[in-house]
Amino acid sequence: MTTAAAAHEDAALVRDSAVHRRVYTDPEVFAREQERIFRRVWLYVAHESEVPRPGDFVVTRLGPDEVVLVRQPDASLALLHNRCAHRGARVVGEASGCARRFHCPYHSWTYRLDGTLLGVPLPAGYGEGFVEGAGGMARVPRVASYRGFVFASHAGQGEELPQFLGGLASALDNMVDRSPSGALTRAGGRLRMEYRGNWKLFMENATDLVHPGFVHESSVAAARESSRPGGGGGATGQTLDMLLSNGLAVPQWDDVPLHAFPNGHVYMGGFYRRGIIAPQREDAVYARYRAALAARHGEARTTEILGVDRFNNLIWPGLSVNSRFAVLRQVTPLDVDRSVITSTCFRFDGAPDEMFDLTLQFLNTASSPASMVASDDLEVFERCQRGLSDRSVEWIDMSRGMGRDRHAPRGVVEAPGTSEVAVRNQMAAWQRWMGAGP
Ligand code: FES
Ligand SMILES: [Fe+2]
Repeated sequence: MTTAAAAHEDAALVRDSAVHRRVYTDPEVFAREQERIFRRVWLYVAHESEVPRPGDFVVTRLGPDEVVLVRQPDASLALLHNRCAHRGARVVGEASGCARRFHCPYHSWTYRLDGTLLGVPLPAGYGEGFVEGAGGMARVPRVASYRGFVFASHAGQGEELPQFLGGLASALDNMVDRSPSGALTRAGGRLRMEYRGNWKLFMENATDLVHPGFVHESSVAAARESSRPGGGGGATGQTLDMLLSNGLAVPQWDDVPLHAFPNGHVYMGGFYRRGIIAPQREDAVYARYRAALAARHGEARTTEILGVDRFNNLIWPGLSVNSRFAVLRQVTPLDVDRSVITSTCFRFDGAPDEMFDLTLQFLNTASSPASMVASDDLEVFERCQRGLSDRSVEWIDMSRGMGRDRHAPRGVVEAPGTSEVAVRNQMAAWQRWMGAGP
């Protein structure tokens, strides 16, 4: 099949209110996704605070490839393919560190921090012109930082990063604005959860507000039992408040607004209303935090920043941002039926330490491999993947709430929380990149 014919066929897998199951199950569609989406679109790679000094590097992924983000001597950033120009060995073995040069372990070719070739043992032994023409560790053509968040694209040309982020740049803005010093630091480790399912299942579920009352029923029930007088304890404090929050009735979920933007991005409103997870807390820690923020921004602007009450902010194709809790979750496709979710978190520099405790607790309760919430979601992703391998029904409905979509200016669509507007929006972006393309 020609490329154009394949693009045409892939685009036909999405209709206004339904999507074909092959979008989740066909290895050939997956291979084309890697080319047409993950080798072209802007993807998050790392945060600038991970590479503060010249020579600092962090190994990460950009779509299908492993890459190394390196701080240069002039403070700029380079993103290098982690592949030796000689026989292709993986050059950098450490997850992160600080280097003066990179050194391939196989035949000892060495590279400068910008990836150019520095030295080759026995250069005369290679065929004429080979070493001179070997290049170096190849550089990813487009790397851009948005307020400290580093994104990159394998494509040499295309939309600039701020235009691509569009209405969802506000999620990154809000996370940075919540820092009393105006800076964030990546802190703590990384949590990884692998599941046997397509990557889209994670993104679609992140703003599916019909599922929590069902999928997370057991932890809601346990939290309710725990919070009864004489209920026996168990979950307490922040964990208890978080678990109970998933127990809204369906009409209440409808009051959590969804906002869908061009390029497949979407955000949902917040739904935490209790204790220290409520957006408007009143306690000594929060008073100190607020005062530190007001010293930077003034009272009015601080009220505005803290008043942004959103939960998951999804930057298509694979990043979920929680600005209030300073958490990022990213889904990386490994195969058509295998994906990994990586969660990282940040300190609001200059904020009381307790604010970081809040972040860690949020991450552990909602997104760690031991989380009672995340394990429910992973189970459902795997069930969807298994079910979708069954061919008895080819088309999957995504029409929920279609009649209630409200079209706002600049291509924004607003809908009540139980709408599948986010799925439709993500699939529209998928269809555009897989089809004729932007
Ligand atoms: S493969 Fe790297 S030096 Fe030979
Ligand atoms: Fe869930």
